[in-house]
Amino acid sequence: MASKLSFTFKSDLHFPRGKFSKPPLTIPIFPHLTLNSCSGFHLSKTISSSRALSSSSSSSSVCAAVKEQLIQSPNLESTQDSETIPPSSSKFVLVVGGSGGVGQLVVASLLNRNIKSRLLLRDPEKAATLFGNQDEEKLEVRKGDTRNAEDLDPSIFEGVTHVICCTGTTAFPSRRWDGDNTPERVDWEGVRNLVSALPPSLKRIVLVSSVGVTKFNELPWSIMNLFGVLKYKKMGEDFVRNAGLPYTIIRAGRLTDGPYTSYDLNTLLKATAGERRAVLLGQGDKLVGEASRLVVAEACIQALDIELTKGEIYEINSVQGEGPGSDPQKWEDLFKTAQVK
Ligand SMILES: NC(=O)c1ccc[n+]([C@@H]2O[C@H](COP(=O)([O-])OP(=O)(O)OC[C@H]3O[C@@H](n4cnc5c(N)ncnc54)[C@H](OP(=O)(O)O)[C@@H]3O)[C@@H](O)[C@H]2O)c1
Repeated sequence: MASKLSFTFKSDLHFPRGKFSKPPLTIPIFPHLTLNSCSGFHLSKTISSSRALSSSSSSSSVCAAVKEQLIQSPNLESTQDSETIPPSSSKFVLVVGGSGGVGQLVVASLLNRNIKSRLLLRDPEKAATLFGNQDEEKLEVRKGDTRNAEDLDPSIFEGVTHVICCTGTTAFPSRRWDGDNTPERVDWEGVRNLVSALPPSLKRIVLVSSVGVTKFNELPWSIMNLFGVLKYKKMGEDFVRNAGLPYTIIRAGRLTDGPYTSYDLNTLLKATAGERRAVLLGQGDKLVGEASRLVVAEACIQALDIELTKGEIYEINSVQGEGPGSDPQKWEDLFKTAQVK
C-alpha cells in the first residue's frame, strides 16, 4: 500500500513514513562502549592542534556521558565490557563522509572497537571537534572532496583494507548544495571518483545508499527524486557493482536518530535509539520505512567481516523490539535470512 509522503525542503532525504513510527525511549546508542575507550585521547599529528586542544573538554565530557549512560541503563543489550572488547584489529578502514550523521556513528564505533580508521573529510578540522584528540594510531584524517578526482591521491588509500562510504547531500536544494555539492556531484560523480581510485587489493567497500533507488520514476519516489537524488544514487551503486571490487550496499530507509549537527561528541554519544532496536533487512527494494542511523552504522561495520554480504545489496529498516546490538552472529543471521527471502 502506498504510504503518505512526508518531506520538507529542510535537510535530508525524507521518506514515506512507515507503519513503525514510535516515540523513542532512552537507551544507550553504544551499549558496547566501554569506559576504557575514553582513556586514550592523545594529540593527533593529523588533527589540527588548536582544534584538538579546544576539543579536549568534549573528550572528557564524553567519558562523563558514557558513565552516565551506563549507570542509567543497567539492562545493556550488548555483553561487551572492558574484558570482552576485541583486540586491536588488522583492519584499516577508510571512512568517507565521517562527519555526517551515519558517518559520525561509524567512526565513533570503530574507535570504540579499536579498529584503525582514516577519515576523508572536506574539512579535516571537523574530526577534532567530533571525535576529540585521538592517537593517529587509531584515527587519521585527510582532506579531500570526492568530487575532485585529484583529491583522491593514492596515498589516501595506502594501507587501507576496507572502505565505508556514507557521503550524501540533501535531496532538495539547500545550503548544503553550495558550491555545486548536488546529488549528481556527490552521489554519482563523487562515488564514481572514489571507487575508481580504490586499490584492487581492497577487501570490501560498503556504500550507504537509499531505499527507492530502483523506483525513482514511480510515485512517491519520483517526488523525492525531483532533483535526481535517487537516480544518481542508483548510478553510484551501479558503478560500485561493476567495479570488480568486493562490495556491500546498504540502502537505508528514512533516517532517524540524528544527524547530531551540534558537532559535539558528547551529544553524539548521548543519542538514543529508543525501543526500535530490531532490524529488518530486505532485498529487491521492497522495504519502506525508517532506519535508525545507529543501526545503519552498525550494519556497515558488521558487513565488513561477514563473507556472505559480499556482492549483496540490502535494504534496512528499524522496527520495535530487541535488536542484534553488536553481536556478529545475530547480524550474520539477519543478512542470511534477508537473502533467502
Ligand atoms: N536522510 C535520509 O532520510 C536518508 C535516507 C536514506 C539514505 N540516506 C543516505 O544515507 C547516507 C548517510 O546519510 P546522513 O544523513 O548520515 O548523511 P549526512 O549527515 O548528510 O552526511 C553526509 C556526509 O557526506 C559528506 N560529503 C558531502 N559532500 C561531500 C563531498 N563532496 N566530498 C566528501 N564528502 C562529502 C559530508 O561532509 P561535510 O561535513 O563536508 O558536509 C558528510 O560527512 C547519505 O548517502 C544519505 O543520502 C539518507
